[in-house]
Amino acid sequence: MSFAKKIIEWYHEHQRDLPWRNTRDPYKIWLSEIILQQTRVEQGMPYYLRFVERYPDVLSFANASEDDILHLWQGLGYYSRGRNMHKAAGIVRDEYQGEFPKAYDELIKLPGIGEYTAAAISSFSNDEAQAVLDGNVFRVLARYFGIDTPINTPAGKKIFSQLAKENLDRTYPALYNQAIMDFGALQCKPKSPLCQQCELQLDCYAKVNDVIADLPVKIKA
Ligand code: ADE
Ligand code: SF4
Repeated sequence: MSFAKKIIEWYHEHQRDLPWRNTRDPYKIWLSEIILQQTRVEQGMPYYLRFVERYPDVLSFANASEDDILHLWQGLGYYSRGRNMHKAAGIVRDEYQGEFPKAYDELIKLPGIGEYTAAAISSFSNDEAQAVLDGNVFRVLARYFGIDTPINTPAGKKIFSQLAKENLDRTYPALYNQAIMDFGALQCKPKSPLCQQCELQLDCYAKVNDVIADLPVKIKA
């Protein structure tokens, strides 16, 4: 069975029910992904729910004042995220007729949206075949495939981007991306991963070779 199929099978048994997974609306997915950039799921969830309730669409968000947005943002920190969101919403209102883009190539042009976020929004909202690469994905790929190139170097970035792309389930990109992120968050955790109960353990390089604690490799900045 392919790596992707194993990850998806795991997800069907263990997935978390998170509110932003019950929508294909790129605006709501954008809200959730920006909030979750430097924030844990449990902390971000009430913010997500408040934002969606107060600003149910991108026009209401764009037409709010920056002060109102930053007020609702209070407690999340990294206020540049809130400011960039307000700018992006204004661009969607003025240049996209208020229709939040779904395509990776459009999303990547908006302030505050980098490669990870563009891949997340385009896959989750429209099943575009874009692989997400965040801390969870780096860790899972490094361990499972036994890659010891440091993740925070240009060489590492290239290898892991390629690996992430190759292993993406191109029929179910949204499902696969959600699955590998949950797998990293719940099973293949940074500290004390649940290897003894892991359905992938017989094929996992790090487990088979007993190098779990050594991967992923990160060099000191
Ligand atoms: N962290 C960032 N994006 C996420 C998502 N879509 N689901 C769970 N955790 C996340
Ligand atoms: Fe991660 Fe352990 Fe599973 Fe390997 S066996 S994928 S290291 S949880």
